[in-house]
Amino acid sequence: MGLNINTKRILVLHGPNLNLLGTREPEIYGSLTLNDINEILKTRAKELEVDEINFLQSNFEGELVEAIQKARGRYDFILLNAAALTHYSVALRDAIAAIPVPVIEIHLSNVHKREEFRHNSVIAPVVMGQICGFGVDSYIAALEIAVRKLRRG
Ligand code: DQA
Repeated sequence: MGLNINTKRILVLHGPNLNLLGTREPEIYGSLTLNDINEILKTRAKELEVDEINFLQSNFEGELVEAIQKARGRYDFILLNAAALTHYSVALRDAIAAIPVPVIEIHLSNVHKREEFRHNSVIAPVVMGQICGFGVDSYIAALEIAVRKLRRG
């Protein structure tokens, strides 16, 4: 068996305030809790024969930076909802740029329909692509795309 050939190990990272999903501005973010979203992803990952899917939510920029750094050689894809950090964290952007693991940027809401300050993503230039505006389906679509990319080798 070759090294890392066709493995599908996925890390899902959730940024600040996403632990409050379910009660946080439900008209924008929906009524699912973060745990609901993770469970939905776990089920879909099983169907897609993902070898491993792990989840981390943090309200701390540095913890997310460290998780990204440690993903090198450990994960094959990162699905990242950086939440507010998306719009200003150069540290997160640099961490993503520093590792070879591909990252998909996710947002539950359509950030382009919202306040001006949410229109810019400082991580967008260093991720593979961005999915926003579909609620939990933004995460599911990202997972499906990651698996498709990994199957292609
Ligand atoms: C978000 C959008 C961000 O602008 C916001 O700061 C969040 C959540 C989303 O999933 O829609 O916390 O990333």
